Amino acid sequence: MSRVIAIDGPSGAGKSSVSRAVGDHLGFLHVDSGALYRIVTWQCLINNIDTANPNQVAEFAQSVEVEFLPDQFSIIYRVNGEEPGNRIRTPAINANASPVATVKQVRDRVTGWLRSLTKFGDIIVEGRDITTAVFPDTPARFYLDASAETRAERRRNEEIAKGIAEQSLDAVRQSLLARDQIDSTRQHAPLRKADGVLIIDSTFMSIEDVIHTIITSLPGKWHKEQRT
Ligand code: DC
Repeated sequence: MSRVIAIDGPSGAGKSSVSRAVGDHLGFLHVDSGALYRIVTWQCLINNIDTANPNQVAEFAQSVEVEFLPDQFSIIYRVNGEEPGNRIRTPAINANASPVATVKQVRDRVTGWLRSLTKFGDIIVEGRDITTAVFPDTPARFYLDASAETRAERRRNEEIAKGIAEQSLDAVRQSLLARDQIDSTRQHAPLRKADGVLIIDSTFMSIEDVIHTIITSLPGKWHKEQRT
């Protein structure tokens, strides 16, 4: 049976860099669940769906198809034969993804996709409800946190590195806090610290320290089986 490492936390907590690095180290494929909510949002916007109307979003979400392809380190997504790339990283998608992610039918669809990915092997999945709703029974569950200031700086630096920075640091911080608010107060599968997860506050930690903490906290047997 495939093993799953689940990592939740708010935007900009470092989930992406950390889960990629841990996955590469152990030979677990990286899965970015937020990108699936972004894909549904992107398709809503292209098709003029009103993202503030949950009924419209719920119905439209059933028609969104994503193709999943494992590559060496991660599971990549294709929509209509194309990888979405930075088209799902725009300020418009940032602003609309949280309302779309509140819709139960969207969550059910994405959860179904995520659970099906274990067929590709061991996976490390990052998101908001992976430890609580998608894979609540896996023995490797982490909640990655950091202060809002640190998270905004990290997110903006990432955008600068990718050449897609369109907003000031303060605007990035506001957008991130607005998403946190929606993500943690929604009715279905809100972001929360589940019982039994290991909480890691990375505000004053280096990425290497966070990676080390996760790797050394995994069930013992998983280390012996790790890729060299
Ligand atoms: O991690 P991200 O910023 O790419 O996530 C995009 C949106 O999707 C964000 O508003 C939170 C939501 N999301 C979610 O509700 N559940 C997940 N497992 C992952 C992301």
